[in-house]
Amino acid sequence: MNELTIAMPKGRIFEEAYQMLIDAGFNLPEEVEMSRKLMIEIPEEKIRFILAKPTDVPVYVEHGVADIGIAGKDTLLELNRNVHELLDLKISKCYIASAGLPNTQMNEIAPRIATKYPNIAMSYYKEMGEQVEIIELNGSIELAPMIGLADRIVDIVSTGRTLKENGLVEYEHITDVSSRLIANPVSYRMKSERIQDLVSRLKKLVN
Ligand code: PRP
Repeated sequence: MNELTIAMPKGRIFEEAYQMLIDAGFNLPEEVEMSRKLMIEIPEEKIRFILAKPTDVPVYVEHGVADIGIAGKDTLLELNRNVHELLDLKISKCYIASAGLPNTQMNEIAPRIATKYPNIAMSYYKEMGEQVEIIELNGSIELAPMIGLADRIVDIVSTGRTLKENGLVEYEHITDVSSRLIANPVSYRMKSERIQDLVSRLKKLVN
């Protein structure tokens, strides 16, 4: 049996996805000592997990240092990496929306959009026929309209609490997001039996 390297996002998604693998019948220790370890070997299953920043998972998978990985649809749309999307795991569901201060219009001449998803935002407004200026930020996006940096933000909404607590309202629902199982195209061919087995076991849990 070939060894399978799986790139996993650190944090909450890791826990949910790891539990899914246990539920799918993989013989994994119930408790993993996370500490600061970035690699976990499971010799019984010939599986090796590498723990990455969520946005780096598609990078590891594209370069083939991980055969498969778990990545948010938001990251996949934004980075557009050369990976196969195998399965919607339907976990970590949220969506991308535009938001801003209530009852405000976008500046007509050069509306400014703050986001950590410049590509998603740019293609959305292009599709809408709006010419916008994108201001790329790395976090606390909700601040931008509050301090006059942008007319709108394009960001993840999960519970809606961050928008509400900062006095912002949603304007447009852009796209739904959930975690996806992705594969390196070469690994998908070379290790097809193992990967297909994993996909069909996880598929049963999703449906
Ligand atoms: C994300 C996102 C929103 C928030 C949405 O931020 O950018 O700010 O979660 O969640 P909610 O709808 O449940 O309030 P994250 O926590 O990743 O932190 P960030 O500000 O550093 O991006």
